Amino acid sequence: MASSYISIEGIARRFPAPEGGKTTIFEDLWFGMERGEFVCVIGHSGCGKTTVLNILAGLDEPTEGAVIIDGKAIEGPSLDRAVIFQSHGLLPWRTVLGNVAYAVASKWRDWPKAKVEEHARKAIATVGLAGAEMKKPSQLSGGMKQRVGIARALSIEPKIMLMDEPFSALDALTRGTLQDEVRGLCRTTGQTVFMITHDVDEAIYLADKIVLMTNGPDARIAEIVVNPLPADRSRHDVHKHPAFYPVRNHIIDFLVTRSKSFAAELATPGKVWNRRSPPLVTPGAPDPTPPLARAV
Ligand SMILES: Nc1ncnc2c1ncn2[C@@H]1O[C@H](COP(=O)(O)OP(=O)(O)OP(=O)(O)O)[C@@H](O)[C@H]1O
Ligand SMILES: [Mg+2]
Repeated sequence: MASSYISIEGIARRFPAPEGGKTTIFEDLWFGMERGEFVCVIGHSGCGKTTVLNILAGLDEPTEGAVIIDGKAIEGPSLDRAVIFQSHGLLPWRTVLGNVAYAVASKWRDWPKAKVEEHARKAIATVGLAGAEMKKPSQLSGGMKQRVGIARALSIEPKIMLMDEPFSALDALTRGTLQDEVRGLCRTTGQTVFMITHDVDEAIYLADKIVLMTNGPDARIAEIVVNPLPADRSRHDVHKHPAFYPVRNHIIDFLVTRSKSFAAELATPGKVWNRRSPPLVTPGAPDPTPPLARAV
């Protein structure tokens, strides 16, 4: 675990409960991410996904445990880590270009204005918003605002992208195009991605690993699905791969049943569980047991 690029080590987050005492949102999360890995997190509303992402961003701190990135504990936000917020988080008084250029200028402080703007315009074009540069956020639809947030994150070419349901406000066509764009960019730049989504198909298309969180309060990482689909998959035929439905069914079963019953599952006699190393599972992978052993 210690050698992972991003190492989440036993974090818990508690908030004061309205009736006094504390509510534990999640507890004892351990998880490692390698450089260049694309990780999606799936779990029901309220299990603490955004809180974990805020901790990775340096915007919140765990009550217990630590997050180590590249050998160093996180100390606040960094331009190496871009965040795409669940709510877009744009500066309302700046134009689209102003919002993106502000991020670019914070990253490359010695760039002249023209270079900053050129770079920002490229990012805006990548998310399909060329022509809307001079609009203010209040003049944009929800999906357009979300795309400005994505452009802003992409524009600073961060080592790590932290994305909180980045495509949820978009229509299906735009969502597909942006998924392709972001996946392509992350693969070519070798960015490490931590993304929250409620969309199982999106996770299977994008992620190398899918982290399954149980329901809160007291949420845990139940297991980590290692995506068996080939890395060069395409959005149009991903569902034709023989492992697609086994993976999808596994995740949906988790969301429908096991996310609630996981504590009881852990209490069943004989269940082996190492909290520091949640099991890696690969639904749909060929059964490694030799056929003879299975027949006996
Ligand atoms: N500052 C805070 N004070 C008190 N409780 C908080 C605070 N921030 C988050 N919570 C609580 O922590 C829990 C987890 O919140 P979080 O936003 O991380 O959930 P989530 O998994 O991202 O949910 P969703 O899928 O709905 O976005 C919720 O019950 C929320 O009310
Ligand atoms: Mg959230």
